[in-house]
Amino acid sequence: MAVSAARVAVATAVSLAVHWLLRSFLQAQHPELGLLLLAAVFLGIAATGNAGAANAPPGPAAVPVFGNWLQVGNDLNHRFLARLSARYGPVFRLRLGVRNLVVVSDPRLATEVLHTQGVEFGSRPRNVVFDIFTANGADMVFTEYGDHWRRMRRVMTLPFFTARVVQQYRDMWEAEMDAVVSDISGDGAAQQAGFVVRRRLQLMLYNIMYRMMFDARFDSVDDPMFVEATRFNSERSRLAQSFDYNYGDFIPILRPFLRGYLNKCKDLQTRRLAFFNNNYVEKRRKVMDTPGDKNKLRCAIDHILQAEKSGEITSENVIYIVENINVAAIETTLWSIEWALAEVVNHPAVQRKVRDEIKAVVGDDEPITESTIHRLPYLQAVIKETLRLHSPIPLLVPHMNLEEAKLGGYTIPKGSKVVVNAWWLANNPELWEKPEEFRPERFLGEEKSVDATVGGKVDFRFLPFGVGRRSCPGIILALPILALIVGKLVRSFEMVPPPGVEKLDVSEKGGQFSLHIAKHSVIAFHPVSA
Ligand code: HEM
Repeated sequence: MAVSAARVAVATAVSLAVHWLLRSFLQAQHPELGLLLLAAVFLGIAATGNAGAANAPPGPAAVPVFGNWLQVGNDLNHRFLARLSARYGPVFRLRLGVRNLVVVSDPRLATEVLHTQGVEFGSRPRNVVFDIFTANGADMVFTEYGDHWRRMRRVMTLPFFTARVVQQYRDMWEAEMDAVVSDISGDGAAQQAGFVVRRRLQLMLYNIMYRMMFDARFDSVDDPMFVEATRFNSERSRLAQSFDYNYGDFIPILRPFLRGYLNKCKDLQTRRLAFFNNNYVEKRRKVMDTPGDKNKLRCAIDHILQAEKSGEITSENVIYIVENINVAAIETTLWSIEWALAEVVNHPAVQRKVRDEIKAVVGDDEPITESTIHRLPYLQAVIKETLRLHSPIPLLVPHMNLEEAKLGGYTIPKGSKVVVNAWWLANNPELWEKPEEFRPERFLGEEKSVDATVGGKVDFRFLPFGVGRRSCPGIILALPILALIVGKLVRSFEMVPPPGVEKLDVSEKGGQFSLHIAKHSVIAFHPVSA
């Protein structure tokens, strides 16, 4: 490999600068790291020769080995990426060590990635941590586009993602939601002083999903099984969403220093999957193996086990379907409910309007059910506005192109991580009127033709569930669940900030994919007299 004198000079300057920069925060933990980095920078000089692939999208100049990582840092959140798009355009590229990140920030190019070239960009990038949490793509959410993904999605559709499933379970959802209303109604202190309703809503969503999946439920927030399930899942989210492992992902030579972190992930995943398997999957397997039809095909996992029996999927795939539902279904919906409640508390006029609509359309005696929400357009506009302003997955789940591809006239190197900044599409002032305002009326006025949908007539400015092949199949459950719980709570309670507080804090906190409220709201629930 020939290295010119000029390149050696650049390498020396960059190496010393980088060495100096990193010494303070890395060397304290790993003194040998400084020298290793220095060596890595030199070795990386030749490798970066092809980093700026011909006709690559624009982006900031990259330094050897680290690329743009030292400039842009770890927290590549939706707001920061939107600011970069103002400078570099609707498609730009960042080099993060050996990784290529391509960011798409306008509706036309989003259409390309998600729809027109949906196959080309239909894979998912993984990283050292996700390889562990998905057994190298034995799951569905993070696997490559191809036969395995198609099979998994097909097997999951019938038991989870059809209108028939909604019909089958809607009474159960409503019962779980009515139990929340009844618990709050019976708690005078919570009504006046307020409380963090998140944990109770989390129990509701676990019960909804575990009843659909396993025909199993938890008794209370103190149920040891609930405590264990939520602990396992939140630890998984914490480890997978953290930015702390980026250095080992971006710079392979540093991977040995991630060993402790990766062992922690492996250990957690082993115990977590054993928890799902021993307590839930095996129980259903036994029922399915018992002669007689009484308990057959009662819940989603029974259908999945049937697919296993017929040889369509493996037992490892079965457990990863369970893992995917735990990851994809519950917290996303919970974050959305938390955002919606915080916004209706902070906008009493909106809250009143929802209540008035329910009173006018449903009356005081008729229950709010899955079939009534279609008659409540303002309530639905509140849900849409929540998802627009606070998309729980603001950059969608990252996409990836298995082969070199073209986008917006640029060449996208194969294996690039391609993110669509869905939050920016829905909050760009050039595309929306006063997007920073929480104003559900927009969806009944100037934006009334815009729907939350993943197919059919899609407006590519509003993609909270993505669109196309890798879009969220859970939308069919999530939208009615969101509208039902918000409608039921607003009907029964005037929700206000706790005494002494004027407005709820709606600051954001993000992870690698997620966007949730930073401080779980304390809300006082004043009963509404009919
Ligand atoms: C408000 C709640 C939810 C939101 C905002 C949401 C959003 C999303 C988004 C943005 C994606 C990625 C789309 C893309 O990459 O283009 C996704 C994927 C997915 N979601 Fe959801 N989701 C929600 C609820 C659910 C529920 C309730 C389930 C299951 C019951 C679910 C299951 C999935 C699955 C399995 C995928 C992966 C699809 C694939 O890779 O083929 N989601 N979701």
